[in-house]
Amino acid sequence: MVEDKKDTEKIAIASDHAGRELKEDLKEFLRGIGKDPLDMGTDGDESVDYPDFGIPVAEKVCQGKIEKAILLCGTGVGMSIVANKFQHIRAALVNDVYSARMAKEHNDANVLVIGGRIAGKGLAREMVKTWLEAEFAAGRHQRRLDKIREIEKKMEKR
Ligand code: RB5
Repeated sequence: MVEDKKDTEKIAIASDHAGRELKEDLKEFLRGIGKDPLDMGTDGDESVDYPDFGIPVAEKVCQGKIEKAILLCGTGVGMSIVANKFQHIRAALVNDVYSARMAKEHNDANVLVIGGRIAGKGLAREMVKTWLEAEFAAGRHQRRLDKIREIEKKMEKR
């Protein structure tokens, strides 16, 4: 019997209506490379508000219930604004493969954001694959992330 993967090993994925088609394609892609996508909506084509789908995903990552997530909306801008409101989230909006790699190597991005009206499916798949395969380079980049974490700690005290 194949056991279900723990939720922490899954990759949460969510979108609004403008990113839904790309979400469906990326789910198929993820399964094809042995990953386990956790689809957190939206399911239909009707117009919805991206925070309603970005917030639950961001909460899961913020609470350590899931390590990585992909968020999609029309441009990716709205979803990245939402996700980066949460502690421990480093959401990177990417439009090219180099940025997707750097988002992990330099920024240790735990959320990848893509615009469903910007990136084609082939590019989106390549960006996801690159981000998943990349490794955080630590060193001076960790020092920089520590400075960002300090901002979060100061905000907590307010
Ligand atoms: C929806 O029309 C669009 O505004 C949304 O998908 C996103 O691009 C917002 O940033």
